[in-house]
Amino acid sequence: MTMRFPEGFLWGVSTSSYQIEGGAPDDGRGRSIWDTYCATPGRVANGDTGEVACDHYHRYPEDLDLLRDLGAKVYRLSIMWPRVLPEGGGAVNAKGLDFYDRVVDGVLERGMRAWPCLYHWDLPQALQDRGGWANRDIANWFAEYTAVVARRIGDRVENWVTFNEPSVSAWAGYEEGRHAPGVSDPRAAIRAAHHLNLAHGRAVSVLRSLTPRAGVGTVIPVHKGRPLPQFKERDGHLVALFEDKWNGVFLDPIYHGRYPDSVAERFAEHVRGGDLAEIHRPIDFLGVNHYFPSYIQASQKGSWPFEHADPPLYFRRTEMNWAIDGQAFQEALLFVKNRCGNPPVYVTENGGAFIDLPGPDGRVDDQDRIAYYREYLAGLLRAVSEGADVRGFMPWSLLDNFEWALGYAKRFGLVHVDYRTQKRTPKASYDFMRKVIATNALPGF
Ligand code: FCB
Repeated sequence: MTMRFPEGFLWGVSTSSYQIEGGAPDDGRGRSIWDTYCATPGRVANGDTGEVACDHYHRYPEDLDLLRDLGAKVYRLSIMWPRVLPEGGGAVNAKGLDFYDRVVDGVLERGMRAWPCLYHWDLPQALQDRGGWANRDIANWFAEYTAVVARRIGDRVENWVTFNEPSVSAWAGYEEGRHAPGVSDPRAAIRAAHHLNLAHGRAVSVLRSLTPRAGVGTVIPVHKGRPLPQFKERDGHLVALFEDKWNGVFLDPIYHGRYPDSVAERFAEHVRGGDLAEIHRPIDFLGVNHYFPSYIQASQKGSWPFEHADPPLYFRRTEMNWAIDGQAFQEALLFVKNRCGNPPVYVTENGGAFIDLPGPDGRVDDQDRIAYYREYLAGLLRAVSEGADVRGFMPWSLLDNFEWALGYAKRFGLVHVDYRTQKRTPKASYDFMRKVIATNALPGF
């Protein structure tokens, strides 16, 4: 098998607003649920916050240069809703919108294309105070915000991403409580999941009418479930339900206009006539994020009859303790092919956190990250050879950044960030990825 990527394969890079921007008190930015979560003792490792992060708000030209020098054709950035609408709706913060206008211009000036994501988890706190994603009105709030952004930068956007990982917003944010807003209420989580879907559908119509030339997609972290080898017999039947919860709840309404049968009852009371038709609007591509294999086991603890299980010990692991398995990536891409009618897919996130100690010369020789990418990109190529319509890849991420509840200790960047000085130093994996992009192939094969 050749280790070349298909002709025209699109290389990009993903980042997200709260994780890199900082500039928290600047220019009228409002508070987000992550500001609140970080300020709540015990929620985020080391008491870290996104207040300064990578100071990308002030250093974005340097970061865009790094993207250009890597050879990225596309930049998937995200827009921070409360920077644009500090109260979630109503008065627009002109300076906040100006920032994204400048970034998008900077992307284009450097010969790249902009794929802004409208929601990468930083909901205005003012809207959380009104119930956040559990309040059905949020579909309209999101549509209003979408229109504000589209009117300003839509003339320069190639593709919109409505949401980053709505499943994580719903399940980690409202059921497990391990992400902002830190709610642990399974029924609220179901409502949130439906309203995230509805907001997506409504945003698609807004974008179609305001920016008819731009494409629209969404980003789902796709997980192929596996029972633990020793519990195959006992837990095998739970895999389909796990996949329905994590993938089907968000993919099926978009691609098939319905919720999976196994969850339909849980959703029934929240779905009104017309909702599913609204969510079912055609989109142009699916963004897939993927990091690790998902093992599950039977459990009586929560409102679902399974829980995440520790993967078998034979896997190597990243610093997140995530098992490394390119085979699972291949399976996830084939899952999308089979479940969604083989839509055009861009891998919008994939990468690993490693220790990344700079050497005496300040360089980070992150051979473990390079090995990770080699394994995952080989898995992607196998999926392509089995017919999956995968058209591009965007590593997570350009810079080391604020890794949510785990703070700054987990580094995912191709570029090392010294948080005391904000100095950026490309790692060995940056050079590796630059070579992959330049040759459109995995080197060494
Ligand atoms: C994904 C998130 C992204 C980053 C990576 C490691 O789930 O979308 O922001 O935190 O995980």
